[in-house]
Amino acid sequence: MLVTGKAILKHAHENGYAVGAFNVNTMEQVQAIIEAAEETKSPVIIQASQGGLKYAGVEYIAAMVKTAAEKASVPVALHLDHGTDFKQIMLCLRNGFTSVMIDGSHYELEENIKKTKQIVEMAHAVGVSVEAELGKIGGTEDDISVDEKDATFTDPDEAERFVKETEVDYLAIAVGTAHGPYKGEPKIDFDRIKTIKERLDMPLVLHGSSGVPEESIKKAVSLGINKINIDTDIRMAFHRAVKKFISENPDVYDPRKILGPAKEEMKKVIKEKMIMFGSAEKAW
Ligand code: G3H
Ligand code: 13P
Ligand code: ZN
Repeated sequence: MLVTGKAILKHAHENGYAVGAFNVNTMEQVQAIIEAAEETKSPVIIQASQGGLKYAGVEYIAAMVKTAAEKASVPVALHLDHGTDFKQIMLCLRNGFTSVMIDGSHYELEENIKKTKQIVEMAHAVGVSVEAELGKIGGTEDDISVDEKDATFTDPDEAERFVKETEVDYLAIAVGTAHGPYKGEPKIDFDRIKTIKERLDMPLVLHGSSGVPEESIKKAVSLGINKINIDTDIRMAFHRAVKKFISENPDVYDPRKILGPAKEEMKKVIKEKMIMFGSAEKAW
């Protein structure tokens, strides 16, 4: 069933676990995520990035995820990842997204508050939940490139003011993770997660979560992270399986035979994440 992001994350916040938010561009990814969620009895968030929307088109993404959600026995939210502006978010609302992110993290605080507030008013008017970002998450996110040394962590005082003024439903915080593959091991500021959770008492979001070791993920969840964004690890699973299949079967040209094993490999990774995040058996 298709539900709002808030319904999913309120339950996660109140029960101390995190839900995976997995990026999709293709049908096989949507199916892998839904099958993984059903097999682990996990609520799930399926999200589309800027690149994903450019590649597949908002209508295709929405149609695929809504079809999958309607057939699913677990709660599913359709979320816009790193939304850029009013126009794009309006388009997502029109296409039935149940959650949207407005990423104003590259603006000064006042401008981020102003932009986020505007989106919250609009989305809440039609019952859609909103995620915002405060602080700069390192790495490359869509068209926005944040130099690692420029990346700044979320300030708890600013976070408190930001949430009070914008009335956003969940907040993405910068605590040391980065988008894309890590060169070394990420150094996560766990104390900052704890402080922000105590001050805000609301669902918190971790971006750039691919490649973060299991113990760090579990610790972050125990301190208050409730939405965990995963893209790169699914891309890598896809790549691994396609490469293996083609090298073992160089003459097979049927896309179904090539993509079938890729779907299974992605599903395996997604199921492991759901168990790691604590969302397995939490579907209602
Ligand atoms: O924001 C995170 C995504 O991993 C960016 O992916 O290349 O689909 O825009 P994209
Ligand atoms: P990764 O690609 O590092 O998993 O990041 C995903 C993300 O944060 C999407 O918003
Ligand atoms: Zn992100």
